[in-house]
Amino acid sequence: MFDAIVIDKSDDQQIVSLRHVADGEIPEGDVLVDVAYSTLNYKDALAITGAGPVVRSFPMVPGIDFAGVVAESAHPDFKPGDRVVLNGWGVGEKHWGGLARRARVSGDWLIPLPDAIDMRRAMAIGTAGYTAMLCVLALERNGITPDKGEVAITGAAGGVGSVATTLLAGRGYDVTAITGRAGEADYLKSLGARTIVDRAELTGKVRPLAKERWAGAIDVAGGTVLANLLASIRYRGVVAACGLAAGMDLPASVAPFILRGVTLVGIDSVMCPREERLEAWQQLAKELDLQTLDTLTVEVAFEDVIETASSFLAGSVRGRIVVPIAPCGEHR
Ligand SMILES: NC(=O)c1ccc[n+]([C@@H]2O[C@H](COP(=O)([O-])OP(=O)(O)OC[C@H]3O[C@@H](n4cnc5c(N)ncnc54)[C@H](OP(=O)(O)O)[C@@H]3O)[C@@H](O)[C@H]2O)c1
Repeated sequence: MFDAIVIDKSDDQQIVSLRHVADGEIPEGDVLVDVAYSTLNYKDALAITGAGPVVRSFPMVPGIDFAGVVAESAHPDFKPGDRVVLNGWGVGEKHWGGLARRARVSGDWLIPLPDAIDMRRAMAIGTAGYTAMLCVLALERNGITPDKGEVAITGAAGGVGSVATTLLAGRGYDVTAITGRAGEADYLKSLGARTIVDRAELTGKVRPLAKERWAGAIDVAGGTVLANLLASIRYRGVVAACGLAAGMDLPASVAPFILRGVTLVGIDSVMCPREERLEAWQQLAKELDLQTLDTLTVEVAFEDVIETASSFLAGSVRGRIVVPIAPCGEHR
């Protein structure tokens, strides 16, 4: 038996509990991992609360991320004792996830954890931080270097936004943090943002084109925020879009694309190919300031995850949440 958060459905009603699960109930996979830490991402909060159609089959263990130690392996790349991290691949949606003491997954989904990162910090990074790095790499692959001018980050005080802010500032960019929480201005400056912009500036009526301001941007919001952002991107600028915190729609015009040569790059972390994941994790290990990462991380006890999921969606969580899973003394 092991402990897991389990999402179940009965008469169309979602029931979530932290309970014992029998070893035999765990789905198939060629690697069994003792989970040390998991985390709470936006998608996990949608799954646990039932606010979004994240869970594809029931019962489901949520948790799109985990870091842990291999307990058993029939996969050629992993052996017992290896430290590993998993992000996405439908885990916590279609396959049992990381908010459990044990996870059985395909070894093809696992990444060896770089030596420089301990398991707690791996989850402080989590899907949000790894996605932030995918966005940064996408901007650079599309020619946005620090000399091109200011870059903007929406949802800056959230998980993706906080990590993106510190990564871009660390690479020498002039970062504008766009936030709905004026009270987080000092926090965002401590992460390296030079300018703070009120999100309200990007929620008004969308014009096809606005004054050219940012050379590049990372957007977690979608909706009107992304539409207004696109209208304010400089000639041949680039936006990496990864989220929908403001909505799924995009009430924009083609003007930024056909008159300013703006590029909109879509970022998906879930099915991202392994080589790009390895690159992102290697870059994170190399350049993410771990002390800064600690300042943007809070810990939530395994027993408190279900309750915390609701406040998460209200947009009141700052930075990243880590969830210790293994009992004290077993965290490495
Ligand atoms: N594509 C992918 O692979 C991928 C991977 C990870 C995350 N995501 C998506 O990216 C988004 C952010 O994830 P996260 O983990 O950073 O979540 P998060 O920690 O909850 O951060 C989201 C932030 O968005 C801002 N926000 C909230 N409501 C908003 C609204 N109505 N309009 C505009 N901004 C709003 C808030 O920041 P401020 O208070 O600073 O404004 C909030 O902190 C989510 O939609 C998530 O699903 C996608």
